[in-house]
Amino acid sequence: MIVRLRMTERGVMRKSIFSYLGVIAGLVLATGTAQADKLTYYCSAQEDWCQLMARSFEEATGIDVDMTRKSSGETYAQVRAEASNPKGDVWWGGTGDPHLQAAEEGLTEEYISPMRDQLHGWAIAQAESAGNRTIGIYSGALGYGYNTELVAANNLPEPSCWKDLLKPEYKGHVQMANPNSSGTAYTTLASMVQLFGEDEGFEFMKSLHANINQYTKSGSAPIKAAGRGENTIGIVFMHDAVKQAVNGFPIKVVAPCEGTGYEIGSMSIIKGARNPESARKFYDWALSADAQNLALQVNAFQVMSNISAEASPSAPDMSTIKLIDYDFRKYGSSAERKRLLKKWDEEVSTLPQ
Ligand code: F6P
Repeated sequence: MIVRLRMTERGVMRKSIFSYLGVIAGLVLATGTAQADKLTYYCSAQEDWCQLMARSFEEATGIDVDMTRKSSGETYAQVRAEASNPKGDVWWGGTGDPHLQAAEEGLTEEYISPMRDQLHGWAIAQAESAGNRTIGIYSGALGYGYNTELVAANNLPEPSCWKDLLKPEYKGHVQMANPNSSGTAYTTLASMVQLFGEDEGFEFMKSLHANINQYTKSGSAPIKAAGRGENTIGIVFMHDAVKQAVNGFPIKVVAPCEGTGYEIGSMSIIKGARNPESARKFYDWALSADAQNLALQVNAFQVMSNISAEASPSAPDMSTIKLIDYDFRKYGSSAERKRLLKKWDEEVSTLPQ
């Protein structure tokens, strides 16, 4: 203060020039750092979880997040459509198959996170099979859930196997998503092909089609509808059915008797990301136990990939479920995913109901 009072006119002038330059420098810096302070985040998990991840990352880093939630197949299609002018930075969540397909097609960026040694082997294996262009963030088994009140009210038998769902009395009572948009539904299609063989697997999908009341866009929609009493049986990941039951809806969760497939939910950095530094920060943060523990706040009951992440007692116990040896390399390959979806479009979805 004293120094300022004694300043000569020249001094004052020099000071104001410096402050002026300081403002300019500040502006330049601000423009420079604005890039690093933004993140365009594509999310393919449940909306509430996507929101919580976005908000928590903003709080942890001060980076502004612009989040869009779309199903796994839809996000893959968007990333692909934007490849010549990428808009997204990081793609978090959704089933692993479309992430693997994006990796194979060079749509995602190679990255080895310093957090990798904190992860389960299955999450790292996912990365290694894709030249480190994706990584596992959670895992969960496929199954279905049904509304016990609607089953009782309609005098329906209680299903416990995949093939039970083909019974004629379930006509109009079963819902699943469209495998083109939804990773859950693609996992269903690929699981049936692996469980029963391709011919029988497609026969299963065709007979099931006769009982389907609607193919939704999002994978978890059928069990939300069952929770609300608008649908009886929803083919979904078991953790999504558990969420409805924990939220107080009359939903019973089924691990089908024949065995079932599962997902390795994944995360990838988009090639040509405009904010690569923010994308890597998000990626490292999302692999931490703290970030993964956020799942429990929104009743997301997947098995998380960080070894130290907390598991909920409500989560389906993967060790008691008969899991097939899902061939992610094959069913996440571009050629196989395209082929199966085309075949489903042509041979299943066009059948009369
Ligand atoms: O967050 C719930 C969840 O079922 C994830 O486990 C899964 O990766 C994702 O949604 C799949 O969503 P969709 O089938 O809509 O692609």
